[in-house]
Amino acid sequence: MSRQHIEFIHTSDMPWSKKDFNNFLEGIKYKILSIDNDTKEISVILKFPKGWKQKSNLNLLVDEEIYILSGSININNQELNEGCYSYLPANYPRKLFISDNGAEVLSFFSGKLSYTKKINKYNKNNFIKKISLFNDGWDNNYKGINSPEIASSGSKKKLLRTDKKNGDQTWIMGIIPSYQEKKVESHPVVQECFILNGEIEGNCGTMVKGSYFWRPRDILHGPYGTKTGCTILSRSKGGKLIVDYYDLDKPFDFNSTHQVVVPENLKKFSRKKIKKIKF
Ligand SMILES: [Fe+2]
Repeated sequence: MSRQHIEFIHTSDMPWSKKDFNNFLEGIKYKILSIDNDTKEISVILKFPKGWKQKSNLNLLVDEEIYILSGSININNQELNEGCYSYLPANYPRKLFISDNGAEVLSFFSGKLSYTKKINKYNKNNFIKKISLFNDGWDNNYKGINSPEIASSGSKKKLLRTDKKNGDQTWIMGIIPSYQEKKVESHPVVQECFILNGEIEGNCGTMVKGSYFWRPRDILHGPYGTKTGCTILSRSKGGKLIVDYYDLDKPFDFNSTHQVVVPENLKKFSRKKIKKIKF
């Protein structure tokens, strides 16, 4: 498993692709956020145009994890709109795959985007039809996510999935306004995050709506704080999230230094966001 440390990029600054990814995603523009050079696992934002329809009737040979950022898509008469999450195992047949209104979708593929016309069996135990953050609301406990400091602040989480084999997790955090951490931390697993709304400041700078990071295991980070509050989609790779806390050298303040860690080719998308002054 090898992906480069990206912490962080502003995905809204990235251009959409000009060409199609492949036949499975014909007519869909995309932005690649990160890719594993060995396994070809890939995290992307897909942009479905209005009235899009998959004509080819192809089935994916890898798992796809989906979160709808805006608009809606419809798979087998299941409408997925903003705030919806779904997990489609490899070979899940897509008899209907359309987007009437257009959509922006965060998609995580578990390997190279290969596909087939054949109908194979899929793992029904792994299938998650739909979880809607907006309709289903937050979890009413903190079971499953080990993040005591955030939990004790009154912030909320919604656990979306725990992989039955390796313990990898996907969840959403809703962090309350004015939250400020009193510890720095690290995790013995990879963490991948996408800011859905709001802003959050940490040791690398200020992340805003659309900011993304892929952080390898055991990297010290924080403390974090947010004036506005924020909603974050998170994934752990290599098992469930475990938080190791360490004491602070100095207390958190809202004047973070912009010092991102990104590969050369992504540097232009990681520039500090300057608030526009309107006269
Ligand atoms: Fe963390």
